[in-house]
Amino acid sequence: MRPSFALAAASSLALLTCTPPSMGPVLSTVIVGQCAYTGPQSRVPECKDYLGAWKSADAEKDCQTLKGTYQGGILCAPEVSLGACLFGTKPEQNRTYIASGDTQKCSGARTGCEVFGGGYWQPSSLCGGVSDELVVLENAWTAPERVCFVPDGGPRAAGKTGELCVLEGIHGATEEGRSFRQDARCDNSRSGRPYYAVDPSPRVTMADPRRQDAGYLAEEAWVRSQIDATSCVCCHSDAAPNAQAAIFNIDRAGSLANQFTDRGIAHGAGVVNSIPLGGLPPTQNNGFSKSDLVNPDHSIFLTTDPARMKRFWQGELDSRGLTAQSFVGVPDGFGPLSEQLYFKPQACAAGEGVAADGTITWGKGKARYVYVLPAAVRFSPTIFPNLDTPAETLWKLAVPATAAPLASRSVKYGVVPDGMAQQVPASGAPPALSAGTQYYLYVTADQMLPITRCLFTAK
Ligand code: HEC
Repeated sequence: MRPSFALAAASSLALLTCTPPSMGPVLSTVIVGQCAYTGPQSRVPECKDYLGAWKSADAEKDCQTLKGTYQGGILCAPEVSLGACLFGTKPEQNRTYIASGDTQKCSGARTGCEVFGGGYWQPSSLCGGVSDELVVLENAWTAPERVCFVPDGGPRAAGKTGELCVLEGIHGATEEGRSFRQDARCDNSRSGRPYYAVDPSPRVTMADPRRQDAGYLAEEAWVRSQIDATSCVCCHSDAAPNAQAAIFNIDRAGSLANQFTDRGIAHGAGVVNSIPLGGLPPTQNNGFSKSDLVNPDHSIFLTTDPARMKRFWQGELDSRGLTAQSFVGVPDGFGPLSEQLYFKPQACAAGEGVAADGTITWGKGKARYVYVLPAAVRFSPTIFPNLDTPAETLWKLAVPATAAPLASRSVKYGVVPDGMAQQVPASGAPPALSAGTQYYLYVTADQMLPITRCLFTAK
């Protein structure tokens, strides 16, 4: 779970922030080096130039974290590219080319650069003629399904008989002691998070004296069985596509913990919270819970025993000599999911907002979700199941996945167009906006694809 938690899958889009930069930065002509790698988000070849004040040792280290190939003293010259993302605000400057010819990715590349990377997108001629409207017409996000069945074998949770219900999605868990890969379809359960194979930490080959300790091995087996009961198994075991897991594989022989990076362990111990990934309360998930808004310091791993889960990973942190202090200032690794959750909106561009007659104006794109929130909101809306509708939401309109998205100025505050659904309030009209007060307008082309996210003053 790195910057990749972008919902990289998101189809075809472009974006408009409230204050789009009108001109790109002028980058330094001092060439430090270049790094060629596969984009963790774009999943296509990328090439990054290091310019200006970069020290070559730091540039090389940065390239290592991208698992790329570093070359000093030369610039990238990709044969084909969708464009480049420019970072010119710090003395250490970068230019990252998306080295692909797949023009369906033009607007996605722009969203990744501008909304989530904080860079300036300079399209190549390939993407130059592509509309910068953010529109999702196909494969719009739909909520995962809960499947219910009467199991004909395997252990049942204490006191449970009859039907067992499992959410077929990234947040789902079956009953303790059972296997999610048997009780749900992994192929239906991977959306909402990108999948790609990643090697385990090099520690995986280390000799580990704890493997002589029966108590340790019993706890490790319990952790594996808890992961096996949850959707995580669909990318973190041999149930991953082609049996190629991402970093850790619960079916791999030997140490489980040594497969992890330091930050992965910190997520396990709850030292770095995983609120941005979302979560369900245990009452809705066969007793499993994780780090969420209610219990931020719980583990990233869905578990029926949060304290026991944390203890296992805390032991691993201790044995590596790591503490909470080691992760201060280290990004949590959830990329866009964190950036959007903790995003603080700025004033709307002229014209955007809700007019006196209620007409809502947003940026370039067609909306699937329209939210009006108070200006002071604890979190910006992100993802299902618990972060897509902040408690403070005043009004939320949703377009069904099968219907066409809405054009700017086609909707009035509190008025539900035919065929659309008002999600907040559950019924009745939303509170009237009070003149002179600031509100937060959040409009998306689909979940996690913001068109407009800014503050307007009610008329
Ligand atoms: C759709 C595939 C997919 C699913 C399902 C999935 N993950 Fe991951 N996970 C990944 C990928 C890909 C990475 C590697 C990201 C990177 O570092 O490039 C990853 C990395 C991680 C890491 C970091 C490991 C380390 O050592 O740095 C943790 C922890 C993790 N996942 C926990 C979970 C948990 C808990 C669940 C279930 C709630 C889960 N994952 C479900 C794809 C998935």
